[in-house]
Amino acid sequence: MKTIQDFQNLNGKKIILRLDLNVPLNEGIIKDDTRIKKILPVIKFLLEKKSKIIIISHIGRPKGNVNIKFSMRPICEYLENKINEKIKLLTDDIRKIKDKNLFKNSNQNVLVLENIRFYSEEENNDLDFAKHLASFGDIYVNDAFSCSHRAHASVTNITKFLPSYAGLQLNSEVNALKKVTSNIKKPITCIIGGSKISTKIGIIENLIPKFDNIIFVGGMANNILNFKKFSIGKSIFEKDCDQIVAKIFETSKNYSCSIIYPEDVVVGKGLESKPYIKELSDIDNNDMILDIGPKTIKKIDSLVHSSKTILWNGPAGYFENPDFANGSYEIAKSIVKKIKLNTIYSVAGGGDTIAVINKINAIDDFNFVSTAGGAFLEYLEGKILPGISALK
Ligand code: 3PG
Repeated sequence: MKTIQDFQNLNGKKIILRLDLNVPLNEGIIKDDTRIKKILPVIKFLLEKKSKIIIISHIGRPKGNVNIKFSMRPICEYLENKINEKIKLLTDDIRKIKDKNLFKNSNQNVLVLENIRFYSEEENNDLDFAKHLASFGDIYVNDAFSCSHRAHASVTNITKFLPSYAGLQLNSEVNALKKVTSNIKKPITCIIGGSKISTKIGIIENLIPKFDNIIFVGGMANNILNFKKFSIGKSIFEKDCDQIVAKIFETSKNYSCSIIYPEDVVVGKGLESKPYIKELSDIDNNDMILDIGPKTIKKIDSLVHSSKTILWNGPAGYFENPDFANGSYEIAKSIVKKIKLNTIYSVAGGGDTIAVINKINAIDDFNFVSTAGGAFLEYLEGKILPGISALK
């Protein structure tokens, strides 16, 4: 994989820079800027080389529709301050931009296209759309490891039309994860949160033979509790997942991998209501499970304690509300405690997980923090990510 530093003369070149600026946003306020901080080096590098930059990114899942809630505008404003350089957001329909010279004003060095997922062609990996995007620049750079598991137009097909390179952050994430997967020490414990078990089933099945413990927390754990016939009240869960969960337990029996799920929980009547610790047998119909309880925290702490490698993706609950953030913080603290004893290798990945770790100021304690969630898990699973293979 060639990185953009290998390119000899970038002076005046128009670089199409695919970034993952999919940061947590609440009414236009950036809740965690880790992903932005991590891509500043590539922007600074390109500006120093006197390149012109056209940034492409997605935010959220607007499913091919224009939705102002997912506009790139707040991110552009934030980035502008960070790089100390004027940024122009192009809000025109990308498909109608015919002008090949987007940098008419010679003082303009950075342009940002509006959310690329406002166009269904992006997720469909439409070849003509990719070709059209490619026509805006001279060189393509992917510095978005965290969406390199998506075979989308601005991640894969675009590389068919331009000399393509890895960005600095993508390169460092791949090198760090390569190191993790080649030197991994057992026992290995993986903590997985997030809400959609069906999107992660392939990954989970492939991880079971390699890992010693898989701990389910967050919304995903509700599917397991439901499968185990516990009432989960009005908690989020994915319908028709019993077969998936049954398969997880069946596969884990064939390998010596333990599946762990909450033994007790913290519930609320709604996302903003009072928290109550409850045993699994006491959950009412109008309760929502929003965090793991103290017994579960203790169990996770002891598993972390007996592990040599910890991989963590996905918070334990609705950490956006401090009343339901304790489980996530306690997981982070258990891992940090072990790191300080120098007896564990710890890797965390995913936007929400990073947000939790940042809240307790522990980001520098972890051995490696990947900006990626899904891509991080797929890489660990041993999959070839389409965005990476497209660069080779
Ligand atoms: C992420 O946040 O993991 C990436 O931005 C990919 O987002 P996606 O899961 O919506 O493709």
